[in-house]
This record gives sequence, C-alpha cells and structure tokens, in this order.
Amino acid sequence: MGEFSADWLALREPVDHRSRNLSLQNQVIDFLNQSTPVVPGLMHITDLGSGTGSNLRALAPHFGAMQCWTLVDYNSNLLRAARTTLLSWADGVLDSNTPNLIGELGYCSGPVEPLVITKSMKTIAVQFRCADLLADYRSILNEPADLITAAAFFDLVAEPWLAAFCAALTKPLYTVLTYDGKETWGPPNALDADVLRAFHAHQSTNKGFGAALGPRGADRLQSLLEGKGYITACEPSPWRMDYHDRTLIEQLAMGTASAVREMGMQETSVIDQWEQTRRQASHCEIGHIDLFAYPA
Ligand SMILES: C[S@@+](CC[C@H](N)C(=O)[O-])C[C@H]1O[C@@H](n2cnc3c(N)ncnc32)[C@H](O)[C@@H]1O
Repeated sequence: MGEFSADWLALREPVDHRSRNLSLQNQVIDFLNQSTPVVPGLMHITDLGSGTGSNLRALAPHFGAMQCWTLVDYNSNLLRAARTTLLSWADGVLDSNTPNLIGELGYCSGPVEPLVITKSMKTIAVQFRCADLLADYRSILNEPADLITAAAFFDLVAEPWLAAFCAALTKPLYTVLTYDGKETWGPPNALDADVLRAFHAHQSTNKGFGAALGPRGADRLQSLLEGKGYITACEPSPWRMDYHDRTLIEQLAMGTASAVREMGMQETSVIDQWEQTRRQASHCEIGHIDLFAYPA
C-alpha cells in the first residue's frame, strides 16, 4: 500500500479536527470521567495507526489532568515526526523521568524516545510503539489502557482482521473519521458517479490487511462489536470543505484521480478531465463516521 506522508497528515489535520463529532466526543469524556482508571489518577490511552499524533492533539486537551498515551504505528518516520510535532505543539516539556508516568504502565522501548509534555494544564506522557498491527494487535490490546483510540484507520482493514481484532478487544474503543463512501463535490459534474465507483473499488484493495473494508469499515466494526455485547454509538463527522481548504481539495482530487487510474475502469482522458475540474472544486463534502463502543 502507499505510505501516508507526514505532509499529507499535516494538511488534513485542521479539517480532521473540526470535523470530529463533538457530541460523541463528549459521551467519551463523560464515560471516562465516570470510570475507574487502570492506574488511579492517570488516564492511559492507546492510539492505533497514530501517524504523527493528530488524535492525541485533538483529544488530550479535553481529557484528564494526567495522561499517558501510547502511539502505535508501523512507520517509524511518522512516529519520529509525531515526537517533533508534539514538542512544538506542547506548552512545556518535562524531563521524562520527573513524574514517572511512563513507568506506571510499563515502558515499551523503541526507535523513538518517549516524552512528557504539558498542554492546556494537562501533563501528557507519550511513548511511541513501532509495531505492525496486522500481527501485533493482540499484545497491544492486552496492555493496560483505559481507552483504545484510532483516527482514519478502520477503513484500511480487512474483514478477517477486523473480526479477530473485535474478538480480542476487551476495552472501550473510540475511533473517528472512518471514511463512509459518501462524497459530494461542487458544482456537480457528470463524471462524479463513475469516478466515485472506481474510487470505492480502489478503497477495497489491499491496504496491508487483505481486501480493505473501505467505506464499510465503520458499519462492520459496529456490527461486530454489538455482536459481542458492546454498547455502541455512531455519529457522522464529514469533512466540509470550501475555498478556504483549496490545497486539501486539490490534493484530494489528485489522490482520487491517481487511485482511479490504478483501477483501469475509465479512460485516462476521462479521469484527467475529472481531475482538472475537481482540483478547482468550489466545495466538497467527504463522509466519515465516528464510533464509540464499550463493553456492556
Ligand atoms: C490515514 S493515516 C491516519 C493517521 C492518524 N491516525 C491521523 O489521523 O492523522 C493511517 C495510519 O495508519 C498507519 N497504519 C496503516 N497500517 C498499519 C499497520 N499495519 N500497523 C500499524 N500502523 C498502520 C499508517 O502508517 C498511518 O499512520
């Protein structure tokens, strides 16, 4: 599969953050405030497919005063970029041994040094775990955590992996921005429907876990978790973009066109024409789903 670049993740971060469903986020915060953490006084969160840590930056300012995050990704370059980005995002940096937060839950050694930062009056310990979730999800899910999170991840996975992941999950899961396949580009273009069909076909190709669920990821996740007795809630979190988001719209049109070209379902000239108009689209809405699920 194509790797996600730190530049692409940085470009989408502002729209990702403003698109997240706040009502569902508040449910998660209430739930955490009412539950007993694994380590008293400390909230431990494990973020799957963390990239450069966007999910942490969105959530940590709203979580408890003392937090310990484990960012999991198989791309060590993205984990390094996460560390650098978090250092510039933080209000302050503490010596990682001062409050021995990371030690509370067992330090996982790896290529990227852990850090402890402060932000919005929170103390946030972060460790970086370089691991392939295809194989390592069980050991990661077995580690102590109050919440498992993910962003823009569950559309990449395949049904058998998701079924095994859900069977192994025992903790609350909060995952945001799973692509749901709904797209509206403006002004309307006669080629949109065909391009979207081919893009969906590309979304279902192997993204490292077998044939990806793509737009069906959130639905399947919800059904599988309900099947094992979890209580679930889903809310929409569409990207709504206009001329303020020109660069992202342009990159999205280019990325979509390139994916559609790979599928060979349309004449190249048709895709080129679509790309040319869509790079200048006046607005664009891309559907996503946020999901929160916890054991009954
Ligand atoms: C669409 S990006 C989202 C990144 C981040 N959550 C965000 O919202 O910015 C998907 C992330 O999943 C990671 N990923 C994909 N397959 C993975 C795997 N098998 N194991 C670990 N991480 C994986 C990628 O490296 C990438 O960082």
